[in-house]
Amino acid sequence: MAERRKHALVVGGTGMLRGLTLALAEEGYAVSVIARTAARLDSLAAAAKDAPGLINPLSLDYRDGTRLQEALRRAAGQFGPIVLAVCWIHSTAPAALRQIAEVIGESGAPCRLFHVRGSAVANPAAEAKRLPEWLGRYPSIQYRQVILGFVIEHGRSRWLTHQEISGGVLAAVRADRELSIVGTVEPWSLRP
Ligand SMILES: NC(=O)c1ccc[n+]([C@@H]2O[C@H](COP(=O)([O-])OP(=O)(O)OC[C@H]3O[C@@H](n4cnc5c(N)ncnc54)[C@H](OP(=O)(O)O)[C@@H]3O)[C@@H](O)[C@H]2O)c1
Repeated sequence: MAERRKHALVVGGTGMLRGLTLALAEEGYAVSVIARTAARLDSLAAAAKDAPGLINPLSLDYRDGTRLQEALRRAAGQFGPIVLAVCWIHSTAPAALRQIAEVIGESGAPCRLFHVRGSAVANPAAEAKRLPEWLGRYPSIQYRQVILGFVIEHGRSRWLTHQEISGGVLAAVRADRELSIVGTVEPWSLRP
């Protein structure tokens, strides 16, 4: 019998995490991808058509918690429990990460959840020490944080490129540390 593909989830997989999403499909994952714009999801699925894995496009707005959870339950029914989740979620959807964790936690299957965080508020390295209060409810989830920092080169600082973000988050998934930083957040005063 053919081995079943492992099921991954990428929230925001059509944007700066597009490269990471395609890399997971290349590694053989069935990757459920959440984004609103169907055309960008279609383009992603087309780019992965020869990959050993596949893209399962979930076109929805993650601010709609009911639709979000329904879609994730359907995807888990089709591709099995989510064992890896990479989530880039705007602050416009403060409940979405917990709602995703709730569905993932239902299966009881071990899952690594990488929460990708920007550096918009204060020093994110300090902020990251506060874990979500709901985490204890889902013992099968291993929560990891990936902070997107900035790059200092030739004495100047700049934000990360999409390639650096996808590559850096992928490296964080492979390294599997509780906290990873893509680029740097120090010295904080040099933030672009
Ligand atoms: N430290 C850094 O260097 C750093 C950190 C953060 C961002 N950035 C830069 O800033 C740019 C803009 O950031 P961005 O947040 O727009 O990232 P992005 O990854 O380019 O786009 C956001 C992703 O989330 C999806 N999305 C957004 N709102 C959604 C919603 N309500 N429901 C479902 N999916 C949703 C988008 O698809 P849809 O729009 O189709 O829904 C897209 O896939 C990035 O492209 C990056 O270059 C840099």
